Amino acid sequence: MISKNTIDKVFEQSRVEEVVGDFVQLKKAGSNYKGLSPFSNEKTPSFVVSPVKQIWKDFSSGKGGNSIAFLMEHEHFTYPEAIKYLAKKYNIEIEETQLNNEDKEKASERESLYIVSEFAKDFFKKCLVDSQEGRTIGLSYFQERGFSNETIDDFDLGFSPKEMGYFSKIALKKGYDKNFLEKTGLSIFNNNNPVDRFRGRVIFPIHSMSGRILGFGARILNNEIKTAKYLNSPESLIYNKSKVLYGIYYAKQHIAKLDNCYIVEGYTDVIQLHQKGIKNVVSSSGTALTNDQITLIRRLTPNITMLYDSDKAGVNATLRGIDMILSAGMNVSICAFPEGQDPDSFSQERSIEEIKDFLNQNSKDFIQFKASILAKKSADDPILKAKIINEIVSSVSVIPDRIKQEIYVKHCSKIMDVSEDVLFNSLAQLNKSEVSFLSKRKVTKIQKTPKNIKVDILFELEKKIIEILLLYGNHKEKFEEVILKNNNNGEIIMEPTIVESLVYEKIFLDLQQDEIEFANESFKTLYETIIHELQKNGKLVLDVFLNSLDSDLSTHVTSILMNEDQYQLHDWFSKNIVVKDKKKVISQLVSETILSLRSYLINEKVKELQELTNKESENNNEILEEITDYYKLKSLLSKKLNRVL
Ligand code: CTP
Ligand code: MN
Repeated sequence: MISKNTIDKVFEQSRVEEVVGDFVQLKKAGSNYKGLSPFSNEKTPSFVVSPVKQIWKDFSSGKGGNSIAFLMEHEHFTYPEAIKYLAKKYNIEIEETQLNNEDKEKASERESLYIVSEFAKDFFKKCLVDSQEGRTIGLSYFQERGFSNETIDDFDLGFSPKEMGYFSKIALKKGYDKNFLEKTGLSIFNNNNPVDRFRGRVIFPIHSMSGRILGFGARILNNEIKTAKYLNSPESLIYNKSKVLYGIYYAKQHIAKLDNCYIVEGYTDVIQLHQKGIKNVVSSSGTALTNDQITLIRRLTPNITMLYDSDKAGVNATLRGIDMILSAGMNVSICAFPEGQDPDSFSQERSIEEIKDFLNQNSKDFIQFKASILAKKSADDPILKAKIINEIVSSVSVIPDRIKQEIYVKHCSKIMDVSEDVLFNSLAQLNKSEVSFLSKRKVTKIQKTPKNIKVDILFELEKKIIEILLLYGNHKEKFEEVILKNNNNGEIIMEPTIVESLVYEKIFLDLQQDEIEFANESFKTLYETIIHELQKNGKLVLDVFLNSLDSDLSTHVTSILMNEDQYQLHDWFSKNIVVKDKKKVISQLVSETILSLRSYLINEKVKELQELTNKESENNNEILEEITDYYKLKSLLSKKLNRVL
């Protein structure tokens, strides 16, 4: 048992934002931190950490709690495991009140597998440097490959002696259970005679995101021997090949900080690049990339660069990887290495600057990558060209974000020299067939399918609000507020009153009333900054304001301001609205935009609920009631909207 004293210390010293921050990329949001939920596949962050209250809350799954609860949920630790983990993280010495056999037995099977694996890792590590055999065969092999002693130690590299059951016998003697040695695949029992699975090989331990040993890869030293070059741990309770990424433990912080993740094919590619100073790199260990692996990365960054050697039939795997990454809503680049080279061999003789230059100059987005396959073959063959274009459009169609789709279509149109219209048409075809295919299977992943893919209503509305705030935020306008009343017959009637208010206050209060948050991150940031600025100074001091924005946002703002008045008012004239004076138009514009946004969101909500009724059966009545309420609200809104127009 861990002493109460130790537990108290752990609670005192651990910070929830640090504990969670090792697994989830957190961004400051007011007094809290926000990030993508590690418990679901969400694309907009709903995972909140409060440093003040020392708790976290995941709005997508409803889970929440303190540091310990997070570790138990996320790492599947037991309570004592979580305490031990935190003690280690914060350098707190663990006092045990007692440690008896009973306690040991109680440890779950999973925990036992971890313990055996940890022991094996230490054992192999020791063999590599402390035994004659390990040094002459194993260590010299790693050194020949250019790994420094520090790297070897850091990555826990090891060596398993040649003798049949050398490791297993020692493990058994030390009291490790035969059952667990077998289940981790470390030992194979032949009529009770143990055989070490990895004997005579150098060892690459595979770490979880939090640094626990999940399994091993083991390489033969002599390329001539006709047996698999690498042997890996078999699947077990703790090792699931499709869910691990080699190197993630060493790379996670760098991936988050640099906001990009390199994926390579092999163990040695990870280690070599890391040693050179490129540390945001993981390997799928020779298997095709899986969705689980992509999900692991997505907690840290939305950007992936795939590095592959071009002489391999790996192109197909790369192509598949591209579509998987895109459909997860992430961005993908591809960097091909020269014929016959992998990242390891390429890096060995080069400096970090040379490697970085190479990566920067040769990383292509997926469209350029697919286009380059064409260029290699024959640029003039029209049939081939059509095929490649279709391939590109098919990748574009899996991207969940319509705005991104549109940007890529434009990009593709330039590169491939075809008209945007043609591309949009075939994209629309693909989107259509995809949707009907999905709806047949009752998959509700696709959120919305506007009829015209060129217009994303939500995006346009959010943009409009930003524009209004920038141009007219500090104007005082007269707005018609509608008060709801019961008339004598018990019907609800609307009673309009004219209220004067500042444009930004009107917008802020209306949106807050409905708890509307911007979906687009840039707009959201802009919105918060503008409102804050207006509240503080009553106006936007433009040069100061622009300076406070990052370059993307300030470009966006600048272009809105450049177009000034005509910009917004333009489509009011085109709607044949008789404009009496500009003032009236501004207040109409504000009201119309807010009402449209609200009714759009209500429509979405209703759609969502209707989908739910197709699936659920128990709560259907409740859901139907909710839908009815929304419909009432909707008809109210459209009445208001009609008044405005
Ligand atoms: N791999 C495997 N089993 C094999 C061959 C390969 O598990 N029999 C995995 C390993 O994770 C390996 C990766 O696939 O790192 C890439 O394979 P390959 O390119 O052949 O090996 P390298 O990593 O280049 O290894 P080395 O440089 O040591 O030859
Ligand atoms: Mn290699």
